[in-house]
Parts: sequence; structure tokens; C-alpha cells
Amino acid sequence: MARFANTPAWIFFRLKLETLNSPIVIALDGTSASGKSTNAKLVAQALGYVYVDTGAMYRTLAWHCLQKKVDIHDAKAVAALCRQWKTKLVCVEGEFRSARLLVDGYFPEKEIRTAQTSAAVPHVAAVPKVRDWMKKTQRDCVKFGNLVMEGRDIGTNVFPETDFKFYLDAHLDERTKRRASEGVDENLAARDQRDSQRKAAPLMIALGATVINNSQMSSAETSAVIIKEVRRKLAAGGG
Ligand code: DC
Repeated sequence: MARFANTPAWIFFRLKLETLNSPIVIALDGTSASGKSTNAKLVAQALGYVYVDTGAMYRTLAWHCLQKKVDIHDAKAVAALCRQWKTKLVCVEGEFRSARLLVDGYFPEKEIRTAQTSAAVPHVAAVPKVRDWMKKTQRDCVKFGNLVMEGRDIGTNVFPETDFKFYLDAHLDERTKRRASEGVDENLAARDQRDSQRKAAPLMIALGATVINNSQMSSAETSAVIIKEVRRKLAAGGG
């Protein structure tokens, strides 16, 4: 027993025990522009679960760093700001319920999507202390109920114990087209490389994840696959 304690298998087993009878978490990871947000929202709406955009959480902190004129290349300064951050985790009602972080009571919805924040966020997201803080905060979201959480490390790092893991991807050309149709000209190959090669919680396919390449699929088709698989697992007694 002593030899088993604190091994990855032990931590996994403990988390699994803790989650018996606790809310269901659908982990939706994948590459940029693979349709995570659209599909996570569709699934949350269809199942009545709370939608959590973890990318928005990292973006909110990145925006806060810019506001406070903290050098985003200085990991210590970013970690210090994160530690002192007086933010609030809330769940808002709407077409579907969604969890978000507020800065002084304000959700910077537009500001976190600017080119300046987009350029800053990978640096902030690579700081290990920031990732620890985010993981704890993201796990706290279960207090709002069943979740559909989208990100890069949800199935591998934030909720490794969940039975509901999905990994979305699409061909680079298709993803570039999707971003262009949103008016964003972005080097997605470079972003994927940064996300999957960073040391802290890199983008990876989680063990047991259902991989969906949706290059030739609409979001209605993609979300239908996810919902069907979740229902199948629930009927089989998963969760
Ligand atoms: O999904 P997005 O583009 O809003 O993500 C913004 C950035 O945050 C992106 O560089 C990847 C990073 N991110 C992360 O490292 N881990 C997550 N769980 C979510 C996003």
C-alpha cells in the first residue's frame, strides 16, 4: 500500500472514488478552431449542463496582466499577479448556463478576444503556477452542477478521472478556413505547436478519449456524436 501511495495510479483511483455521485464532467479538448466552443455550447444546451470555456479564463488573466502592465514574459510576475488576483467565479444564466471569471465584478467579454490579448495568452498559459491555480478553479466549477468544459488539458490534467472525454480535430486547411470566416487570420500550425510542446500540461489526446475529426462534419453532426456517446455511457452506468 505504502509503495502505491501518491503514484499516478493512486491519485487517479482517489479522484475516481471522490467523483462517485458527484456531477458529470464532459471534457472537450482539441486543436484551435476544431469547433470546441460551438460544440461545447450545443452539448451544454442539449443536456442542460453548465458550459465552461477554460480558454476564456486564461484570456481573462492575460487581459488583467495587460491592464496591470505586468510583463507577460516574466513568469514570476505573472504568477505573483495571479496569486493576488481578487477574481470571482460565477455561473450566469442565458441560453445555457455558463461559468466565468470576473475582474472587479466585470467580465471582459470583448477585450479577451482582441489580437493583443490573443498574443499574450499563450505566455500566461505556459506559467506552471498559473496552470495550478486554473486547475483548482476549474475543478471548483462542479459546485454549479454537471459541466461541459472545453480546453486543451481538461481530459489529461483538470479532470483525468472523468469517463466523458472527447478530442476534436480537423485538417489544418479546414481550420484555417473556419478562422478566416470569423475574420481572424492566424497561424494555427504555430499555435498548435506551442500548445502541444509547452512543458506544463501540453495539448494531448487523453487516454480513453473519443477522437472526432470533424473536417467533413457540421457542428450539428459533431455535437450529435458527442451527445449520443455521453448518453450511451450514462445508460451503461458510466460517470
Ligand atoms: O481556446 P482559446 O483560444 O480561447 O485558448 C486561449 C489560450 O489558452 C490558448 O493559447 C490555449 C490556452 N489554453 C490552455 O493552455 N489550456 C486550456 N485549458 C485552455 C486554453
